Amino acid sequence: MKIVHVASEMFPYMKTGGLADAVGALAGALADRGHETAVFLPGYRRVLEHPDAAGATRRLRLKIELDDTYHTGEVRVFSPRPNLTVYLVVKEEYFDRANPYGTAERDYEDNADRFLFFAKSVVETLRLADLQADIVHAHDWPAALVPLLLRAAERRHGLTLAMRTVFTIHNIAFQGIFPSRVFARTNLPDELNNIDGLEYYNQINFVKGGILFADRVTTVSPRYAQEIQTPEFGCGLDGVVQTRAEDIAGLLNGIDTAVWNPAVDPLLPARYSAVNLAGKAICRAELLRQLKLDPKFAGPVYGMVCRLAEQKGVDLVLANRDFFLRNDCRLIVLGTGEKRYEDALRELAAVAPGKIALCAKLDEAMSHLIEAGADFFLMPSLFEPCGLNQMYSQAYGTIPLVSQVGGLADTVTDADADPDNGTGLSFPATAEGLADGLKRSLALFADKKRLTVVQKRGMDKDFSWSQAAVAYEQLYQDSL
Ligand code: ADP
Ligand code: GLC
Repeated sequence: MKIVHVASEMFPYMKTGGLADAVGALAGALADRGHETAVFLPGYRRVLEHPDAAGATRRLRLKIELDDTYHTGEVRVFSPRPNLTVYLVVKEEYFDRANPYGTAERDYEDNADRFLFFAKSVVETLRLADLQADIVHAHDWPAALVPLLLRAAERRHGLTLAMRTVFTIHNIAFQGIFPSRVFARTNLPDELNNIDGLEYYNQINFVKGGILFADRVTTVSPRYAQEIQTPEFGCGLDGVVQTRAEDIAGLLNGIDTAVWNPAVDPLLPARYSAVNLAGKAICRAELLRQLKLDPKFAGPVYGMVCRLAEQKGVDLVLANRDFFLRNDCRLIVLGTGEKRYEDALRELAAVAPGKIALCAKLDEAMSHLIEAGADFFLMPSLFEPCGLNQMYSQAYGTIPLVSQVGGLADTVTDADADPDNGTGLSFPATAEGLADGLKRSLALFADKKRLTVVQKRGMDKDFSWSQAAVAYEQLYQDSL
């Protein structure tokens, strides 16, 4: 099949979260399975500086209409591996910036224009380069209008640009909501600016457009596919999602085992596997050393790696501060994001400097070291469409403590509730729930034999993308 992905992030070129990992790994897995795969990505500064993009060649010059003005840009292409082509939509004014969406304080003010330009550039490239896609697969709000813009362009030019379109919701909390005046910049017919179209409480909503106008809609775990049809998790779009209930599938992400595998991970000081965990102890000591904690510490080490956002349950961790202060344990948090959380965690670390460490930066190597060096991985998310770190933890023999939501519920079995199959500890997404999980983790840590069984069981699970890619392949084939 000829499969075209459209996304605002792709590992290793631009990443703020799991979207990048998912898009990078899915595209790679489809290419490896012999599909002619393309990914469209904004030509951010960091992408253009990446060695893979050094040989990128200009494919097209673009002239894109936003309302009644034309904006120029260009498309550059490179191929990082067989069957995979990356198309960069280059426009300095929009994408020559440090971050994809904004700064810690606020989103960029021209995000509607930036990602409309991007989406329209994709459609225009499909047309001008005559790519003849079987599937155009758009991810999250920045690409959500691609399916609709594509069908509009087909009508305007009287041709077919793609057989089928797919829209994947990686996180329905981010919808791309903009003032109603932005509608004119889509150049779509006025009848789409109503309740059956993009209009949303007198504004316009990109994700609503993705849900309504893609041929198929998917999300990244079966549980989340159900959850987003309820007011509790639908973030105001549950009613819209329900209208597509028949066409919604929840396909679990996989993990990229070339990047996340403790047996070959070049970012670790030592490598290990389920057969021999000795290297894990070396990683643990190195992790503690790097954070200026006693490397010989023998009690439980809790790790957390995430965007510091409400979603990730940082409040639940803060509500359990006494657990970390009172017990003989260590807590290590790697994360950036909302200042209030960074401040609160920094303050907590200052209260117990030899016990609690905050690493407030984006650090790929540190994220691997935490996955390898911690005993327990904290992921008490309030909601979690899929979540990758709980899968990385299992692969690294680090026991995940997760709340029972979304993909966390689909990928972690509680070791107390199900002693024969458990690979982690799970609990309701509340402060009390986490408190219970933490308490149970102490008991598990004290029972070394059981701890090792649970660790190794997690390491033996297959979370690889080869499985997940087959599920997408089937979905594409079904839709065709
Ligand atoms: P989300 O996409 O909601 O942020 P996921 O669990 O799907 O959550 O993916 C998060 C990804 O981002 C993981 O690969 C995780 O290791 C990475 N990550 C988050 N924060 C950091 C950080 N500060 N440094 C390095 N990697 C990080
Ligand atoms: C989103 C979700 C996360 C998911 C990731 C990749 O960022 O928050 O749960 O794993 O996308 O699909």
